[in-house]
Amino acid sequence: MAEGAKYNAQELYDRLKAATAPESLLKKHLTPQVFAETKDLVSKFKGTLADCIRSGCMNPDSGVGVYACDPDAYTTFAALLNPVIKDYHKVDKLEHPKPDFGDTNNLGFGDLDPSGNMIVSTRVRVGRSHASYGFPPVLTLEDRVDMEKKTVKCLETLTEDLAGEYCPLTGMTKEKQAELTADHFLFNDSDRFLREAGGYNDWPTGRGIFFAKNKKFLVWVNEEDHLRFISMQMGGNLGEVYTRLVKAIKQLESSGLDFAKKDELGYLTFCPSNLGTTLRASVHIKIPKLAAEPDFKKFCDDLHIQARGIHGEHTESVGGVYDISNKRRLGLTEIQAVQEMRAGVEAVIKREKELAGK
Ligand code: ARG
Repeated sequence: MAEGAKYNAQELYDRLKAATAPESLLKKHLTPQVFAETKDLVSKFKGTLADCIRSGCMNPDSGVGVYACDPDAYTTFAALLNPVIKDYHKVDKLEHPKPDFGDTNNLGFGDLDPSGNMIVSTRVRVGRSHASYGFPPVLTLEDRVDMEKKTVKCLETLTEDLAGEYCPLTGMTKEKQAELTADHFLFNDSDRFLREAGGYNDWPTGRGIFFAKNKKFLVWVNEEDHLRFISMQMGGNLGEVYTRLVKAIKQLESSGLDFAKKDELGYLTFCPSNLGTTLRASVHIKIPKLAAEPDFKKFCDDLHIQARGIHGEHTESVGGVYDISNKRRLGLTEIQAVQEMRAGVEAVIKREKELAGK
């Protein structure tokens, strides 16, 4: 059990107020009035305000600092979550278009780096949540096992190049885990933000990874979200990676799973930063010159893209290789989110070449 689990909402709030770290979105929007309004509410799956704010109060250096205890938290705790969502996604109004994946037979883009010199690999993921279960803070071990069973049954219906095998984390050897993590396939239990939010309760029970035979399509089961669908391959062919993901989403949506959604928020996820399309399209790209520029972060912000280290969120870059992805997921369609990333990566490549004098 995480350290903060023993504290109630008032104790957590007092800790947050006393913290001196730069302001998280939680700290900014959990005003005394919002706290008073939400402190005694309970959501459909019996989640509380403490469940939503525990991670951000125990980790005052959070950027966001709040998680939804279950899909219904977006209604019950809207007084807190709505301002956080608007602030993170930089929107004045909460609205989200219907899913639109574009015409994958006619995308108008393919390989973003035909020379093969800069982009190491390309990945696109979406998150999905089962409508009938809560999120980590309210889940029991039985819930996780049940969800895993239902999910695996549907994954087994995937066909052609998407067909594959499910590997539960329970019973997986340490060596195999280390190998899959180093190859950027597998998740682990090392994120202190997620841990404090209950994300590693009963670890590793109910978690696992599904691989298509060619390892270019995978599904994470019960990592941060109930489901993460991931399409990835070496090199810069975003067209192929995205097309494969869309095919998988369409097959899985018609396989009997019911995903949590809300009109103005799109697909519901554990973290408010992933709502909407839930789509993060990224490349690992070598940009030593651009990354050394003092205005690198602003360059990325202006293009609505984000640079991370290559071993996941909150990690550092290695050898000038960065993970570049779209930042916005809400208030735009899936194809628009991918196009935003594509345009950003193209601008990054152009600038790196200019700086390198090529
Ligand atoms: N809760 C963490 C924070 O506020 C992570 C937020 C976004 N990342 C994520 N994996 N959901 O900094």
